[in-house]
Amino acid sequence: MENIENSYTRLLEGNKLFANSKTFNDPEYFKKLSLGQAPEYLWVGCSDSRVPANEITSTKSGEIFVHRNVANLVVHTDINLLSVIEYAVNYLGVKHIIVCGHYGCGGVKAAMSNDLHGFVDNWLVNIKNVYNKHEKELLGITEIDKREDRLVELNVIEQVRNVAKTTIVQQAWKKRSLHIHGWVYGINSGLITDLCCIHDEQEDIETIYRYKI
Ligand code: CO
Repeated sequence: MENIENSYTRLLEGNKLFANSKTFNDPEYFKKLSLGQAPEYLWVGCSDSRVPANEITSTKSGEIFVHRNVANLVVHTDINLLSVIEYAVNYLGVKHIIVCGHYGCGGVKAAMSNDLHGFVDNWLVNIKNVYNKHEKELLGITEIDKREDRLVELNVIEQVRNVAKTTIVQQAWKKRSLHIHGWVYGINSGLITDLCCIHDEQEDIETIYRYKI
């Protein structure tokens, strides 16, 4: 039987190793970090434990401001996400917003089925809407794994557009450049594919979503 106490304390032991290794090379490491953060990137990723933003991009503490939720969704009524975007854009001045999905996403798989999973289905309905919008293309893909992979990609592309539809991003575009990227991570390869990017002012968004600012 698994030793519950060990599996828990392992993390605290790991933390000591982390702190010691940083100060071993640079005694001022944490003192410098404590002065403040100025990340250039905001990451909107999936909560999946296999997709840690810093680790898969070989970046350090202080480089990426991170928001993660089930299936990397950008929902316009999510005050948590909107607060994160506002803080990252207006106060931290990030230059890039990255929506990073991943192949084999459990949220996307669940959304493709008609099974009832619970409360989460009300969150995943946002992916069903993406599916519905692109149903013709998706049904044209006969292999189920490939269809899932394509929905993962389409979901990222739609979430990038959702970021661009926010008032926060559109107001920022009036003052400066801000790039929104759509990436997909391959859990089986460790590699990221760059899917799409919205570079500037209200490009690639239908007229109805564009605000007069
Ligand atoms: Co996922």
